[in-house]
Amino acid sequence: MVDLREPWSIGPVEIPTRLVLAPMAGVSVQAFRRQGRRFGAGLVCSEMVSCAGIEHRNERTLGYLRVASDEHPLAIQLFGSEPRTMAEAARMVEAAGADLVDLNFGCPVRKVTKTGAGATLLDDPARAAAIVSAISAAVDIPVSVKLRRGLRDGSRDCLVVGPRLVEAGAASLTLHPRSARQMYTGTADHALTAELVSLVDVPVIASGDIVSRAKAQAVLATTGAAAVMVGRAAQGNPWVLEEIVDGEPREPSREEVVAELVLFVRETVRELGERRASGFLKKFYGWYLGRSRFPRPFKQELVQLSSTEEVERRLIAAAPGALELIERLESEIPSGDEVTLELPISIYGGG
Ligand SMILES: Cc1cc2nc3c(=O)[nH]c(=O)nc-3n(C[C@H](O)[C@H](O)[C@H](O)COP(=O)(O)O)c2cc1C
Repeated sequence: MVDLREPWSIGPVEIPTRLVLAPMAGVSVQAFRRQGRRFGAGLVCSEMVSCAGIEHRNERTLGYLRVASDEHPLAIQLFGSEPRTMAEAARMVEAAGADLVDLNFGCPVRKVTKTGAGATLLDDPARAAAIVSAISAAVDIPVSVKLRRGLRDGSRDCLVVGPRLVEAGAASLTLHPRSARQMYTGTADHALTAELVSLVDVPVIASGDIVSRAKAQAVLATTGAAAVMVGRAAQGNPWVLEEIVDGEPREPSREEVVAELVLFVRETVRELGERRASGFLKKFYGWYLGRSRFPRPFKQELVQLSSTEEVERRLIAAAPGALELIERLESEIPSGDEVTLELPISIYGGG
């Protein structure tokens, strides 16, 4: 049995548990990352942030990334294709207080790949390595890279590119062993993760289909990975993180679900503003209230409300006992001391 409470490290950065919360565009807002840390993730990651913002300050940006003092250790993820611009963005990430700068060499979405960024870099190992060495030279914090297996189905390109990136200075690799073509279909082939682990002498994080403690244990034991990354399973379900780390499967009470969701709503409104948050949050209502926790019409009712204040009122009416929990949670969470990273995020993007 692998102990997920065992600390490990990436370079000088100590990571308290062997569970990493996945970067997810349109999901990994600050509230999501802080919640992930509270429920046992040892490391959290921002969604991908565009380096293009540096050169095209006039591009239509949808928002900036905010970093709070209680997110650490935190990785901020960049995507781009130009070593020089990416190095400049990495300096900003370091200045914003990130513990790690993570590079996205896996995004399969056309909007990203057509610019030479994301998964396209798996087909251009020389450029991928040039990006990693430019960034390693520009910052003191460790550089990590997140990869897919390759562009095409059955590709093993990650086994060629991965070791080159380590030579270029990558201090850790995360592998999501699906091809870019696969998007999220089929299954993640962690036999490939085991092969990558055997080829490099830096910690490897296994991403893809980690949905339970049993799956996390099996992947850690069979691959030799340093940690597992959890993405979709944690959407609206931070309790799964606790289960994976501590081994206690626990269905939350209605009050707990409402308390976490209300806190999430309040924090997200603070981060994105009411107008953007109200659209952004709609998918979370289904994620939190589904899984047979609340009757389906309740979620449909929430999605139609125009203000988050009204959403909050309905939620609390459905589980009044949640109020006490919310107060307790809010008193435990430090406020203030935030840094805004002036690089654009697209909260409506895919990943
Ligand atoms: C909605 C969504 C957005 C994503 N955005 C990103 C991203 O910004 N950067 C990234 O490296 N991976 C992104 N991913 C991939 C995840 O980090 C993860 O590797 C993948 O979902 C497989 O893990 P899972 O099965 O635990 O979800 C995204 C995935 C989803 C579902």
